[in-house]
Order: sequence, then structure tokens, then C-alpha cells
Amino acid sequence: MNDQASILVVDDEYDNLYLIHDMLVPHGYQVHLASSGQEAMDLAQGSSPDVILLDINMPGMDGFRVLEYLKSDGQTRFVPVVMVTGQGDVSHRIRALELGADDFLTKPVDCMELRARVRSLVKVKAYHDHMVDHQRELEREVEERTKALRHAKERLHEAHVNLKHASLTTIYHLSRAAEYKDEDTGEHIRRMSNYAAAIARQMNLGERVVEGILYAAPMHDIGKLGVPDRVLLKPGKLDREEWELMKQHTVIGASILEGGKTEFIRLASVIALTHHEKWDGSGYPRGLAGKKIPLAGRITAVADVFDALTSKRPYKEAMTFEKAMEIIKGESGSHFDPEVVEAFLSIEDIIVQIKEGSSASGLSVAEFQEDTRVPFPDFHPSPHQPFSPLLRVTTKS
Ligand SMILES: [Fe+2]
Ligand SMILES: [Fe+2]
Repeated sequence: MNDQASILVVDDEYDNLYLIHDMLVPHGYQVHLASSGQEAMDLAQGSSPDVILLDINMPGMDGFRVLEYLKSDGQTRFVPVVMVTGQGDVSHRIRALELGADDFLTKPVDCMELRARVRSLVKVKAYHDHMVDHQRELEREVEERTKALRHAKERLHEAHVNLKHASLTTIYHLSRAAEYKDEDTGEHIRRMSNYAAAIARQMNLGERVVEGILYAAPMHDIGKLGVPDRVLLKPGKLDREEWELMKQHTVIGASILEGGKTEFIRLASVIALTHHEKWDGSGYPRGLAGKKIPLAGRITAVADVFDALTSKRPYKEAMTFEKAMEIIKGESGSHFDPEVVEAFLSIEDIIVQIKEGSSASGLSVAEFQEDTRVPFPDFHPSPHQPFSPLLRVTTKS
């Protein structure tokens, strides 16, 4: 260590400089000499000394000012400084200590004492340098790992978004397939899912639930895939047997979606099963009444019927907006949950916007493929039950 150490000696008297020079050089130290305060400061910056031996009494800039400068500069503040003082300079020593001096040597300098102090301070400096290097290394490592983590997180998010897009696109097209035979566009599922989401938002169910119902509701009629064409496409009134087959689309839909590992698919299954139940118990397939019908079913019932009423079908004209609103209102407490109807009626302006295709309530089906603002509901198994309010049933209605 010693043969590498660099010592800066500062004294205005050349005799003193060379005396110390000759004491240190034979022991392997690299010695730099400065004969003024200004020169000392320049060399301290340029030669990165391990220890500085600093005379106090110098013309111009004295040792105190040099010391003050060294201890206030970021590059030199941790270099140990030994002040070289005359005999009995107690007040000088106190001032030097206050300014940050690390040690003292008394003139005339004793060779053994000089080497002992320099050796000890070189060790202190080496230890300090080691700690600084170690800290830098740690910081660099932390920075690298943080960068790698951030990168992995970004990749994960990207994969998550891609997966979400792929899944939503599949859901959308699968839902379209179910509507394909009796609907000529995907507009019904766009509108009814947005109506349902708008109602859920109005009922303060939280944005996660709102998004869940928005994405699950398009699958409400997926069970129609299992209804024979002769029934599904029959232009006239269905007879009793045909009607029973038609009603089965709820059960078929629920079984298609049954066993989903995620809350989201379970929500879609519940909607498929219960969207034709009626508040007074006269609906199908199970004739559930009141709050025994999961809230998701009660909400989608209003959304689905309202859209059916206001849509043109091969066998009927579209009802006017006002008339359809009247019917929904009139069926509150019989077909529909009064609280859901109340929420629906209170967002008339939003319903109009969705109907006209400028959805303000949530995301349109077309946006399924683009939106990345919110995570796909329950895309990962969740310890929470985010859609529990929608799935809840109570024994008393
Ligand atoms: Fe249906
Ligand atoms: Fe429908």
C-alpha cells in the first residue's frame, strides 16, 4: 500500500519541503511538493493525494485557508490533513481542529513520528476509498438490477396487454357468432354491454365491476349457438316446444362458460344463466325472484330488453326511445329490479349517447382491442372477489 501512496507536502520553505521529501521517498511514497497555498490547492486537485502535510505559517494564503478550502471541496474533503505547527501553538491547533484537521506534527519534524503518522493516515484513507468504491459498486448493482426489473415489468405488462387484447378479441368474435344468425351486426352486444356498464357505474359498484360487466355481458346469449336454427330463425311465433328449446339458451350459455377459472368468466356464466329471470319470479330458466337473482342478471335484463325494444328486427320495427323508456319504467317491480330501473332512468342522456354510438359510459366493443388503460378484470387468479356484488344473491327478496 505504502509504495502506491501519494503524499502532498506544503511549506513555503524549501528546506522543510526537501527534508520531508527525503524522509518519505526512501519508504516508497510518491511525494509532491507545493511551496504556496495556491500551488497546494492546484496539486490537491490534480494529484489526488492520500495524505496532505500542511504548514500553517505561509505568506499569502496560510495553512488555515488552505485547510478550509480542502475540507469544503468535495474532491479533497476526505483526504487526511496533518498540520505542521511550531512548538506550543495550542491556539493554532484548536483552530485547525475546528476546521477539520486530522492530525498534527510539531516542528522540527521527527522522522519516526512522521512515518508513523503518515502510515496510519494512509491506511485510514485507503479504508475510506475502499468503502466509497464498495458503495459505488453497490449503487451500480442496484441500478442495474432496478433497470432489469423495470424492463421485465414492462415486458410482463406488454405480454399482459397482448393477452388481454387476444382474449377480448376472441370474446367479441365468439359473442358475434352467437348473434350472427338473428342479428346482422355486432351492435346489439356493443349497446347492451355498455348500457349494463353504465347502470353498474350509476349504482356505484366500482370501476372494476363496471369493466367486468362491460366485458362479460356480450356473452349473455352465447347459448344461442346450441339452439336449433328452425327455432332460432323461425319467422313466426314459437310453439310451446320451440319456446322451451329457445329458453334453453340460458342454460346452454351458462354451461359453455361453466368452470371458468376466473371471476370474469364466472360472471359471464351467471349473466348468461340469469338475464331472462324476472323480479316477480315469472322469468326463466329457474323462475328466481327478487334479490335471489344475481345483480348481474338484474342489470343485464334491463340493458338487454331496452336494446331489443329499440332495435329493428325482421319481424318488427324499432320502438321509439321514449316508448321503450316508458315500458322499462312500467315493468319496474314486475320484470325488473326497481333499483336497477331507477339507476337506468337517471342516466337517460348516457343511454342516448350509447344508443347513438358515441359511448360515454364505458368502452365500446370496438375499443376492446385498443384499450389498455385498465387491467383485464381478474385476468390473473385473484384472492379478492371483485365481482362479488354482481354475483350476490340473498335468500329474502
Ligand atoms: Fe337471451
Ligand atoms: Fe341479447
